[in-house]
Amino acid sequence: MTILGIETSCDETAAAVVRDGRETLSNVVFSQIPLHRPWGGVVPEIAGRSHVEKIGGVIEEAVRASGAGWGGIDAVAVTCGPGLAASLLVGVSAAKGVALALDRPLYGINHVEAHLHTPFLSPGAPDPAACGPMLGLAVSGGHTALVDMPRYGEYRVIGQTLDDACGEAFDKAAKLLGLGYPGGPEIDRISREAARRDAVRFPLGVPRPGTSALGGLDASLCVSFSGLKTSLLYKVRAEPPRDRAETAEIAASYQEAVVRAIAGRTARALERRRYSALVAGGGVSLNSRLRARLAEVASAAGVPLLLAKPEYCGDNAAMIAGLAFMRHSVPPSASLAMDAMPSLRPGENPLG
Ligand code: KG4
Ligand code: ZN
Repeated sequence: MTILGIETSCDETAAAVVRDGRETLSNVVFSQIPLHRPWGGVVPEIAGRSHVEKIGGVIEEAVRASGAGWGGIDAVAVTCGPGLAASLLVGVSAAKGVALALDRPLYGINHVEAHLHTPFLSPGAPDPAACGPMLGLAVSGGHTALVDMPRYGEYRVIGQTLDDACGEAFDKAAKLLGLGYPGGPEIDRISREAARRDAVRFPLGVPRPGTSALGGLDASLCVSFSGLKTSLLYKVRAEPPRDRAETAEIAASYQEAVVRAIAGRTARALERRRYSALVAGGGVSLNSRLRARLAEVASAAGVPLLLAKPEYCGDNAAMIAGLAFMRHSVPPSASLAMDAMPSLRPGENPLG
């Protein structure tokens, strides 16, 4: 089964063609990073307009490069949430148009669930449907969530950030330190130059139990990055780094605080239940320090760590088509009545 995937939830216009959920025939990503760089963050209006300009060409290129041809597309899958409303709408509308023109089924896919599918996107990867309960960690510019997956296709958020996503925490820190955009890769890079990663003591990134923002979730599985960001602001204001070596030490200490918060929560969740694997996805799963710490945490818990190939860590449409394949035995949940759902949570039915 050959599925055309479409993804426009944030600042990447992406389309991909994937055969049988594993074999990526094409994977086209148009990144808007240069458009948002002058503002130091994603500007929703600019993102939506750029998606409108690029979506047609990106889809055509994905179909052409796949060699499958329009006639070889068996189904269309699109991110319907969560994400920026004006961005999601472009992909959803384009997907409806293609599905209608080709007379093929249309699948609405949850973006966070798709990030958690990325480690399975290669012919050699295990079959997720044959794995036991898994713990998912989605870490990106928009999301930080620990997801319990009792069976593949079932998702329950057990921990999350109460404020900024971890990618956002990196992006804002890089801005304060005068590093480039997006900040995550910059912080990762400069941290490797640091003589030490404990030069600055940052707060733990742990929310206080009983906070109403927890919404019933266990505080010991949640994180909070706003205090971290504020303490970096005060530190930089009080003692601006004098040279690159000092900037590197501050960046490395900050990265350590973010990674410690995520890895600590993950370790705790792994103690709560017997999992068959730890599955991580999203742009921040590229972070070298986080990868190293997660490997230690998984090894201590005796579970394999499944990470995505670098090209599938950031936003892409192969993960959308790949996850849709896992659903193809059930009738498509989406129809032409499907709408963009900016606040969709993992495990929520896209039509619900
Ligand atoms: O998954 P993604 O492409 O988009 C969203 O769904 O948000 O993630 C983008 C985020 C950005 O915040 C970026 O700074 C961060 O991932 N990122 C990293 C690294 N590479 C990308 N953060 C830390 N270390 C990295 N190496
Ligand atoms: Zn994403």
